[in-house]
Amino acid sequence: MCTSKRFDKSYKIISNKEICSGYFELKVKADAVSKYCYPGQFFMIGIPEVFLRRPISIHSVEEGTISFLYSVVGRGTKILSEMGRFSGKVSCRGKGKGGYDEIKMLGPLGRGYGLTPNASSKFLSRLSCDSYEKKSCPKSIDIGFNPVIVAGGTGIASVHFLATKLSREGVIYYGTRSKKDLLCIDKFKKIGWKIVVSTEDGSKGYKGYITDVLSENLKDSNTLFACGPVPMLKRVLQIAREKNIEGFVCLEEKMACGIGNCQGCAVKINGENKLICKDGPVFEIKDVEL
Ligand SMILES: Cc1cc2nc3c(=O)[nH]c(=O)nc-3n(C[C@H](O)[C@H](O)[C@H](O)COP(=O)(O)OP(=O)(O)OC[C@H]3O[C@@H](n4cnc5c(N)ncnc54)[C@H](O)[C@@H]3O)c2cc1C
Ligand code: FES
Repeated sequence: MCTSKRFDKSYKIISNKEICSGYFELKVKADAVSKYCYPGQFFMIGIPEVFLRRPISIHSVEEGTISFLYSVVGRGTKILSEMGRFSGKVSCRGKGKGGYDEIKMLGPLGRGYGLTPNASSKFLSRLSCDSYEKKSCPKSIDIGFNPVIVAGGTGIASVHFLATKLSREGVIYYGTRSKKDLLCIDKFKKIGWKIVVSTEDGSKGYKGYITDVLSENLKDSNTLFACGPVPMLKRVLQIAREKNIEGFVCLEEKMACGIGNCQGCAVKINGENKLICKDGPVFEIKDVEL
């Protein structure tokens, strides 16, 4: 069984930068914990003055640090964006309280890509649960497949970590509302991925939805990984079924606990009630009904 350790502790904020308008990248020092992070997993992030922690996916892990990429959408992420902004001196919030240059986080949580409950499929066995137990990632295994990632909006945050750990480079289909919302293009290019972009307003790349471009180009030799808003995922599931393609989708739901206690994130998977925080957030395409 693929299980992971989880930690509930404070981490030093190394940086929390606005990478473009409304989007931030938070980097924390996490020497021991970073070894337990797996693509598709997330942390529940504690934010001062906010009651519930907020779920944010692991964006990247390198040399004892963990990074998160998030957009400011409400009160929690707004306060988060103001933490640790003055590199450990005094943050704009928390002045007089020692400054919030540390952040409380619970994780890594959930099951990531390749760790769905049904571990019997051809692809899953290739990824191998053993490799996860040994804290390594699929990169060390010879995977004979052609990966295709589909990302919508901030779904790009979690699939970046995945792309860095797959043994093969592939193509990422990435759709946003407008050019100003496109993130991480250079990061994907740097690791050898081909990027196909669409924007709803046509300000960059194909004009329209990314799933339209995807349906024209997807082949049955591809394995799909998708993360993004529900309407995009619905279309991805449809396309995958039409073309008989296997793969994974990463689901999102409002989360109060993130560890399976409140039952607030239930979803029907293969006819059964499952919890997105504990049994997911990544599930096999063939099992998901949206
Ligand atoms: C597993 C998972 C991974 C995520 N990863 C990322 C990421 O990498 N980057 C990113 O920008 N966003 C991510 N999100 C969405 C992020 O959690 C929400 O945008 C955030 O919680 C909003 O908090 P807020 O206080 O700013 O907004 P508010 O709307 O004020 O939040 C109110 C409440 O709703 C919850 N909530 C609101 N929107 C969402 C949502 N879409 N998903 C879950 N809970 C929500 C909050 O936790 C809070 O309890 C992820 C969500 C999940 C479930
Ligand atoms: S968020 Fe509480 S059970 Fe999933």
